[in-house]
Amino acid sequence: MENATNKNYLEQNKERVLNELLDLLKIPSISADSNYKADVLKTAEAVKQRLIEAGADKVELSATNGFPVVYGEKIIDPAKPTVLVYGHYDVQPADPLDLWDSPPFEPVIKKTALHPDGAIFARGSCDDKGQMYMHVKAFELMMKTNSLPCNVKFMIEGEEEVGSPNLGPWIVANKDRLKGDVILISDTSIIANDTPSIDTGLRGLAYMEVEVIGPNRDLHSGVYGGGVANPINILCKMIASCHDENNHITIPGFYDKVKTETDEYRKELNAAPFNLEDYKKDLEVGDVWGEKGYTTFERTGIRPTLDVNGIWGGYIGEGAKTVLPSKAFAKISMRLVPDQNSDEISKIFQNYFESIAPKSVKVIVKPHHGGEPIKVSTNSPGYQAASLAMTETYGKKPVPTRGGGSIPIVALFKKELGLDSILFGFGLDSDALHSPNEHYGLFNYYKGIETIPLFYKHFTQLHKK
Ligand code: BES
Ligand code: MN
Ligand code: MN
Repeated sequence: MENATNKNYLEQNKERVLNELLDLLKIPSISADSNYKADVLKTAEAVKQRLIEAGADKVELSATNGFPVVYGEKIIDPAKPTVLVYGHYDVQPADPLDLWDSPPFEPVIKKTALHPDGAIFARGSCDDKGQMYMHVKAFELMMKTNSLPCNVKFMIEGEEEVGSPNLGPWIVANKDRLKGDVILISDTSIIANDTPSIDTGLRGLAYMEVEVIGPNRDLHSGVYGGGVANPINILCKMIASCHDENNHITIPGFYDKVKTETDEYRKELNAAPFNLEDYKKDLEVGDVWGEKGYTTFERTGIRPTLDVNGIWGGYIGEGAKTVLPSKAFAKISMRLVPDQNSDEISKIFQNYFESIAPKSVKVIVKPHHGGEPIKVSTNSPGYQAASLAMTETYGKKPVPTRGGGSIPIVALFKKELGLDSILFGFGLDSDALHSPNEHYGLFNYYKGIETIPLFYKHFTQLHKK
C-alpha cells in the first residue's frame, strides 16, 4: 500500500527527477584536477540546494582541508533509529576524451543491450552522482508522501575519487553530530538488472609510484646501447617478476595476512550467476586472466592483486628516435583483502622493489593514498533490511557478492563511528565507471529511488527488535 503511494509519486515526478540529475551531471566536478576547483564547489552548492528543497534541515557545506562535505539531516524523533547516508559528488577525470561517443559533461540518453529502457551517458552518471542523487530523491519522496520512518543524516563528500584525504579528520571532528545506527552507501554494483546483489565486502588499496633511474642523461641507443642498463627494460623486468607463472604474486610476505575463505563460503560466492562468455564478449577479450585455482568472482572479490596503472619514459613522440632513456616510471596499485593492511603492504612492496633492482639503476618508491579492505556481515539489521527492500522491488532475493573496488572511508566509519556500512549499489560493473562512455541505466536510477525508502522501512522495523 505504502509502496504504491511512493511509486505513484515517483511516476508523477519522473521527468523532473531525471532532469535534476542531468543538470548535476553537466558540472564537471573532477576532484583530481585543480582546473576544475570552481566546478567541484559549484556541484557541492547544487547538492546542498537540492537537499534543502527535498526538506532536509541544518544543510551546510561543512569545511574540510579540501572540498567541503555536504551535510544535512532530518530528525523526526530522537528515539527512532538514524540512517547515515554517504555518497560522493566528485567524479573521475574524463580523459581520454576522444574515446567518448558524446561529450562527458553533456548527458545524453541512449539505449544499450543491457539497458533497453535507456541509459544516461555522462561522467559520474553511475559513479557516483546518479547513485548518490537517488538518495536525495528517495528522501524527497518520503518527505512528500509522509513516510519517512526514522532519522536521516546525509554526508556527501567531494574527494572520494582522490582517496578521501580529508574525510577521516572530518569524521573525527564531527563524531557527535554523526551519531547513528547504520551507514547506507550506493556506490557499488549489482550483478545484472534481473539479478540483484549486495556487496558484503570491498577490497583495500595500496597505490605506489616507482621511478627507475639509469644514466644521468638520455643516451644514443647505438653508441651506449648494450653497455648501459636501460631503465625501461629493467622496470619491465621488475614488474614482470611480481607475478609467477600461475599469476600468483611473488612478493615475499604479500599473502601472509590474507584470510583464507572456507570452501563453503567460496561455494556460496560462486553460486551467484556468472556468464563467462558474456563477460568476455563485453570486454572483447579472448580469455580471462588471473590467479590459478580461482574463479573470476574470486579473483576480483576475495583475492589481492597487483596491477600497473600507467607506465612511461623514453621517446613516445611521432616517428622513431633512437634513445636509451635516463628514467622510467610506473604507477602500480595493489588491491587488498582482509586482513591485509595498506601501510604494511606498501612497505613490503617497497622493500621488494628496492631489493630486486640491479646495481646498474637506482629505484625510488613512493606510496600514494591507500585504504583498508572491509567485510560486511549479512546478519545485521542493515543487511537484512537491504535484502528485504530489494526482494520487494526486484521480486528476487539479492545474492551476497564481493566488490572488487575500494571505498577507503568505509573502514574509517567502522573505526571512528563503530558503524557498519551497507553497500546498497544499483549500478552495473559494465556501466564503464572511470572509463569513456560511463553510463547509468534509467531502470537502475528509478529502481534505486523506489527501493531506498523500503530500506528505511525495514531497517526501522528490524532495529526495534
Ligand atoms: N564507487 C567506486 C568503488 C567501487 C566501484 C566499488 C564498483 C565497488 C564496485 C569508487 O568511487 C572508486 O572508484 N574508488 C576507487 C578508490 C579511490 C581511493 C580512488 C577505486 O576503487 O579505485
Ligand atoms: Mn564511487
Ligand atoms: Mn570511482
